[in-house]
Amino acid sequence: MCCDKNNLLTGPKMLSGSVRVVLFSILGLGGFLMLFLMYFKSVPSQICPPQPALPGHYSKRPENSSLSKKQPKPDKPIMLLWFWPENRRFDFSDCATFFNIDGCHLTDDRSLYNKADGVLIFHKSIKHDLSNLPPSPRPPFQKWIWYHVESPTNTIRIPGLDNLFNLTLSYREDADIPVRWHLTARKGQGEDFVLPKKDKLVCWIVSNNNPATGTGVRYNYYKELVKHIKVDLFGRAFAKLLRYEDYYSTLSSCKFYLSFENSVHKDYITEKLNGPLAAGTVPVVLGPPRQNYEDFVPGDSFIHINDFPNAKALAKFLLKLDKDDEAYLRYFQWRRNFSAQQHLVQLSQEFIQAICYGCDHVGKHKEYRVVHDLYKWYFV
Ligand SMILES: *[C@@H]1O[C@H](CO)[C@@H](O)[C@H](O)[C@H]1NC(C)=O
Ligand SMILES: *[C@@H]1O[C@H](CO)[C@@H](O)[C@H](O)[C@H]1NC(C)=O
Ligand SMILES: *[C@@H]1O[C@H](CO)[C@@H](O)[C@H](O)[C@H]1NC(C)=O
Repeated sequence: MCCDKNNLLTGPKMLSGSVRVVLFSILGLGGFLMLFLMYFKSVPSQICPPQPALPGHYSKRPENSSLSKKQPKPDKPIMLLWFWPENRRFDFSDCATFFNIDGCHLTDDRSLYNKADGVLIFHKSIKHDLSNLPPSPRPPFQKWIWYHVESPTNTIRIPGLDNLFNLTLSYREDADIPVRWHLTARKGQGEDFVLPKKDKLVCWIVSNNNPATGTGVRYNYYKELVKHIKVDLFGRAFAKLLRYEDYYSTLSSCKFYLSFENSVHKDYITEKLNGPLAAGTVPVVLGPPRQNYEDFVPGDSFIHINDFPNAKALAKFLLKLDKDDEAYLRYFQWRRNFSAQQHLVQLSQEFIQAICYGCDHVGKHKEYRVVHDLYKWYFV
């Protein structure tokens, strides 16, 4: 995920118009209440909450702003974010905003370590000698969560991680806390789908073309494909950055989108698939076998490169579909029964979903568990 996503897009926050209006109103209101509170209470500076302390942080209960940060509600388990992944900070209230998750007290305040029920530890931030892990002794009730969403190809083996964690958080379906963007089943009759206007045939947004991250396979496939069909390229790798707010509209304007994963592993099916599904575009996937995709999305919602003997045959098929509206529209029939949600595309939002899922899990599960052979499981 991250290897690809970095600097893929650029620009201000992606939000639909109405959400933006609501958020800005909340921010404005929150800010006003903060000023009001500070005027009456004159909060001493040392208990000012640490970052990120946007006024919006308190929009949910402004009257308890300074209290709610320092003294978590006793009934809510605490999840401590030990590292900010790649220093991409966000407002913890986003879990409620985007995922309706509010079951834990999420904090980055290390002084709450001894009280924390869960400690979320981002793999890529762990030092090779483990010197920046939380201190001993560990409270007996506490669970350490190994948080890693890269594929094995892009994973550094830090030694000494066996028998250390209690839970895994990963894109893998057999992780304790699996994270991905799922389709949602529609209740009753779905709304009539209107195909977005298309002025491009095949598109590809790609930021990372560094072969060291495993991208050689997809790049070679692309080079073959583009000999037979026009592909519109976007993204950092082609010096054609897209603004965040143009991501979905750009995808919508293409008939097909190359959902090529950077490396091929079971369950490693990222937001590269979700994006075109949400935008009303047919994904052409390169990744694990078709069967694995069908664990997550209907088989008639995408085209798999393995369905064709080579890139030339795929190109021929896409060109034929371009001339056959009826056959093309069949790739959207799944929408009668499911809907795809737009995932968060801003760089600063990259880790929100996983962290919120971790919070949700900690709020609901108490069982004892130890992850004995982390790498044996992960590098199958
Ligand atoms: C704010 O705190 C008071 C006690 O200090 C409590 O009675 C009240 O329910 C809290 N309000 C919210 C919205 O949490
Ligand atoms: C999908 O929805 C349609 C009605 O919108 C219904 O007739 C059909 O049975 C559904 N298919 C499945 C697999 O649920
Ligand atoms: C978590 O894992 C550690 C290390 O193996 C273990 O000592 C501890 O008992 C586990 N705690 C829970 C709550 O599962």
